[in-house]
Amino acid sequence: MSKQTHTAQQYWDVRSDLFASYYKKPSLFDKLFRQGIYTRTAVALKTIQEYDKPTVLDIGSGPGVNSVTWLKNSNASLLLGIDFAESMNEYARKNAKSEALADRCKFIEGDFMKHKFDQSFDISVAVGVLDYIDDAASFIKKMDAVTNKAFVVSWPKNGLRMALRRYRYTCAVFHYTEKSIRDLHANCNIKSIDFIPTNAGWVTIARKK
Ligand SMILES: C[S@@+](CC[C@H](N)C(=O)[O-])C[C@H]1O[C@@H](n2cnc3c(N)ncnc32)[C@H](O)[C@@H]1O
Repeated sequence: MSKQTHTAQQYWDVRSDLFASYYKKPSLFDKLFRQGIYTRTAVALKTIQEYDKPTVLDIGSGPGVNSVTWLKNSNASLLLGIDFAESMNEYARKNAKSEALADRCKFIEGDFMKHKFDQSFDISVAVGVLDYIDDAASFIKKMDAVTNKAFVVSWPKNGLRMALRRYRYTCAVFHYTEKSIRDLHANCNIKSIDFIPTNAGWVTIARKK
């Protein structure tokens, strides 16, 4: 029997509780094998903390658990989350409200690649997202365009873990190498790029000129 296929939007629209549980109720498996998720959250938080009252764009914000962590642990003045899976946004709005953070954030439904932003952001973050993007070059170009100070991205690498994901997931997943990531940043208006290795790939921090 052939495998069912979904778009990333369809795939994630039914997984808001599951993804939130990796942060809220991590199993031993999550703690051992999903460390990359926690590392990328921490790297993004540290970057946000470098700036005073930054505005933050959380691209592919998912259940918004990261968004709440970043708001609670920084003086970020505003966070806009954008995700094309509406169940993720519903979860994120409820989560932010329950943490009394609703006045510092907003979650909108949309495809980052198509959405027209009416402002730019000091920091933009896309963690756990490039895994599902078939045109990473356009994605990074747009991140560069909407960001004033720094952008943080997580990148999965190839290997056994990626092979298992390709087998399990019903949507397409993509992987990168250090060289392909550097090439994707080649035409960006940045002064530096830091690579932080994780068990699943890398997190990069691109700082603007
Ligand atoms: C693995 S989840 C990660 C969620 C969150 N960033 C985190 O790390 O907790 C990936 C999310 O990216 C969203 N996504 C993927 N491509 C997107 C796009 N082009 N525009 C908006 N959201 C996107 C999916 O709907 C999904 O909620």
